[in-house]
Amino acid sequence: MIDSPSQSALLPAGEGAAQIADLFYVMALGGVVIWAIVVGLAVYAIYRVEEHDAKKTRVLVIGGGAVFPTVVLTVLLTYGLAMLPDLQRPAAVNSQVIEVSGVRWWWRIQYRLADGTTVETANEIHLPVNEEVEFKLSSEDVIHSFWIPSLGGKTDMIPGRNTRLKLHPTKAGVYRGACAEFCGAAHAMMSFDVVVESREDFDAWLDELRKPDGDAGTAGRVVFEKRGCGACHAVRGTNLDGVVGPDLTHFGSRRTIGAAVMANTPENLRRWITHTHAVKPGVEMPAFVGIPADELDALIDYLGSSR
Ligand code: CUA
Repeated sequence: MIDSPSQSALLPAGEGAAQIADLFYVMALGGVVIWAIVVGLAVYAIYRVEEHDAKKTRVLVIGGGAVFPTVVLTVLLTYGLAMLPDLQRPAAVNSQVIEVSGVRWWWRIQYRLADGTTVETANEIHLPVNEEVEFKLSSEDVIHSFWIPSLGGKTDMIPGRNTRLKLHPTKAGVYRGACAEFCGAAHAMMSFDVVVESREDFDAWLDELRKPDGDAGTAGRVVFEKRGCGACHAVRGTNLDGVVGPDLTHFGSRRTIGAAVMANTPENLRRWITHTHAVKPGVEMPAFVGIPADELDALIDYLGSSR
């Protein structure tokens, strides 16, 4: 199993998530106060008010049933609405822009580079700590929802539309993101890892990501081509340029396999390739059952070492 990255909206590691956690605690406390007072008044009315005391009854019904909830709920509503402008403000100019599209059942991720081009990866997002980042979200099939509970609120990904989300991580670490809108068979297995790191580590990672794959001509690459993996998957720097499935350039450097279904280890990769549908029911990738052992070994070696 994967060592589990944090995935709690109540353990915030970013500004948006911190606001949501505050809102949760204030609302929960407000709810407790309302409950205690209303139930208190009800108990008082049952045991302490004479049956025909119209004046006391009126005070209890109007005060406890109308005035009090109206005041408390108005205060809570105002408190919640006051948070909206900042959550909706776009990220600072020059923030890193990351385009993410939801695909059944994985995440296509494109980093916009300084020269205006983009570089693609899948199912793992790296972010610089203490900086705002801007996500542009879309979908290639059905409605998905992009959510990193530790960092901020969820945002729907809607076919034919672009939605946006600003995040501002404040604590380095590894967090888990997930699809938060039911999108079909493997919805529960549509997750990703988020690595929040220092600016230097982030720059180094992005620099590595933009380089083409350097393992040309290895035995595993030959198998990859021969078995038709390139019909769906791309590896930059080779003639494998499929776009239907996740880009596998530098796959070996990723933490997980199959949209964070399993840790990225050689044993798990073997299981993924040969028992794909047992690992992730509903996945579009066909299982490669009859592949000879030497070819499989070479393929796993090639993918695992493509860093
Ligand atoms: Cu994508 Cu649920």
